Amino acid sequence: MKLSIRIICALLFVQLCFAAPNSNRYDDEDSRENSIADVEQDTQVHQFDLLIFTQRWPITACYEWRETGKEHICGLPTPATVWTIHGIWPTKLNTIGPAFCNKSAIFDVSQLSPIEPQLEAHWVNVEKNKPDDSLWEHEWLKHGTCAAEAIEQLNTEAKYFGQGLSWLEQHSVSAAFATNGDIKPGFNYSLPTLNKALYDYYGKNVAIECFFDRKTHQQFLNEVRICFDKQLQSADCDGIVGLERIALPNSRVGTVISNCNAAKPIFYPDAVPKKQEEEEEEKEISQSDRDVVYETVYEISDGKTEIEVILV
Ligand SMILES: *[C@@H]1O[C@H](CO)[C@@H](O)[C@H](O)[C@H]1NC(C)=O
Ligand SMILES: *[C@@H]1O[C@H](CO)[C@@H](O)[C@H](O)[C@H]1NC(C)=O
Repeated sequence: MKLSIRIICALLFVQLCFAAPNSNRYDDEDSRENSIADVEQDTQVHQFDLLIFTQRWPITACYEWRETGKEHICGLPTPATVWTIHGIWPTKLNTIGPAFCNKSAIFDVSQLSPIEPQLEAHWVNVEKNKPDDSLWEHEWLKHGTCAAEAIEQLNTEAKYFGQGLSWLEQHSVSAAFATNGDIKPGFNYSLPTLNKALYDYYGKNVAIECFFDRKTHQQFLNEVRICFDKQLQSADCDGIVGLERIALPNSRVGTVISNCNAAKPIFYPDAVPKKQEEEEEEKEISQSDRDVVYETVYEISDGKTEIEVILV
């Protein structure tokens, strides 16, 4: 079956058939907002209305990456319990994208050298089986090139990534959760609780994204998207596509922009769940000794410190 599909593929669309299964993770992830855009791209001017500033919870991002491919290795920043940047995404209301606006653009990491230490700490690539700067490259080519066309303050790599850092400083979800509602990792929260904390802090409608874990059947808090207009002023995220406005059962709050299941708790993890093999191993160990020993390994590479927790 598989073979025959491959043969047909080989005859017809070599690229389509073979490129898809290996598709870039950020493309997979962003596909919730951007898959149509890639097809429609070249046809017109790349207009957009809003900039979505997406922050991610690195523990969920790391777990999601590890769970979505056999060869996927994830790593966390230190400290792991701060919200980090995913990207700044130009977005046209009620549609998707634009994306990849400048086909001749190339990513030049050397332009970021003055802010590289901050980017490494706050704009973190959790995908350790890829080059360290692969997230930055992807964000610049897919989203930054579109922002650069229309917004003078974002028209170079240094400005685009610098803006992300300053937005994180001014509008971090870590601060929002600490200020409102005392929302801490390691617990479950309802969608209205999370949304209220964020709305009260930002004064704008935000979007909340969950990762659904097939293994534990839980939903994990993954990303929070806040929006800015083209003058870089805070804006409501209403009208963005990919995460829809959903009704909250039994709530006066009304609706929230989210893909989370509003009827179920949302887990805000304080650690990456263990791997299956580790769990099995743990069960064996636990018969003789309930204490599981972890060893913390600091891996220093290229002057960056990464932290990995492994089961001994
Ligand atoms: C596209 O990128 C190239 C290479 O960086 C640059 O020279 C050109 O000005 C860009 N085009 C637009 C429309 O921004
Ligand atoms: C969170 O809720 C799930 C049910 O969806 C439950 O299995 C889990 O134990 C809860 N976790 C915590 C930390 O309360």
